Amino acid sequence: MSQFPIRRMRRLRRTAALRRLVQETHLVPSQLVWPLFVCHGSAVRREVALLPGVYQTSVDEVVKDAERAQRLGLGGIILFGLPAAKDATGSEAYDEQGVVQQAARAVKRAVPELLVIGDVCLCEYTDHGHCGVIQDGDVDNDASVYLLGKVAVTQARAGIDIVAPSDMMDGRVAGIRKALDAAGLSRVPIMSYAAKTASAFYGPFREAAGSAPQFGDRQSYQMQGGNADEAMKEIRLDVDEGADIILVKPALPCLDLVRRAKQEFGSPLAAYQVSGEYAMIKAAAARGMLDETLAMWETLYAIRRAGADIIVSYFAPTAAELL
Ligand code: PBG
Repeated sequence: MSQFPIRRMRRLRRTAALRRLVQETHLVPSQLVWPLFVCHGSAVRREVALLPGVYQTSVDEVVKDAERAQRLGLGGIILFGLPAAKDATGSEAYDEQGVVQQAARAVKRAVPELLVIGDVCLCEYTDHGHCGVIQDGDVDNDASVYLLGKVAVTQARAGIDIVAPSDMMDGRVAGIRKALDAAGLSRVPIMSYAAKTASAFYGPFREAAGSAPQFGDRQSYQMQGGNADEAMKEIRLDVDEGADIILVKPALPCLDLVRRAKQEFGSPLAAYQVSGEYAMIKAAAARGMLDETLAMWETLYAIRRAGADIIVSYFAPTAAELL
């Protein structure tokens, strides 16, 4: 039974002012986190070929981006490191003089109020490119968790405000919590990449971070994309192990997981609009296939509408500038 002509949905769409009044989903810069890639050297600012507008920067340059993030009122930055040398156990990841630790100290000195998140993983630092240490051809879970605890402690000591494990080892939130607490760092929150699927959309990131696996793939630790119940189980485990913020990744292919996670856990919830999601829009826009800015807004608002409180995105500074 149609209510037309009593009910006309277009009435509230007629002008920009009306549309603004009834807008349901809002986005503010403090909900956006900007991923940054930091490398050794000085005055380095190298654009990542697959990610226009994303750079590998040395510590002095990352400080400039941090100052920009602070000016824009972003929620924070998340740091990924490109080590001077890679080895079997990814030792620069937990070196007090590691590139992320140096960057954290420099950023904290220059912009103390800016929230700095540290990505806790080994894949950028290992010569084999996997997110943990290898034993008998596969990633050894518990040995990796031990090292991840060391990564978190050295990052937190360097001033990192939130540690964000992205490795998908079992028990790593509990392991990292224990390591932090034992080091007197019980105040440092953990944002866990709780549900992270083995996704093709991480492709461009692996160029940016130099972290492509040298053999095999990540399917023995990252989740199968089609499994939603398993994703909820993964998140529950991380919440029970002490995760303060949970993160779902990638974002657009997992909007249903974002929605379910928000409903089932009520925890602060982040979603990561990953490199491939960004690159796809950039590439299509460069070929005149779509409007980049409109596509950016549409995706960011969709992620918010699904239930994400926090969005990690390479669009963060661009979006904040326009907000
Ligand atoms: C490392 C890590 C990855 C991303 C974030 N942390 C890559 C991977 O798991 O292969 C991907 C982020 C992106 O694609 O933007 N564990």
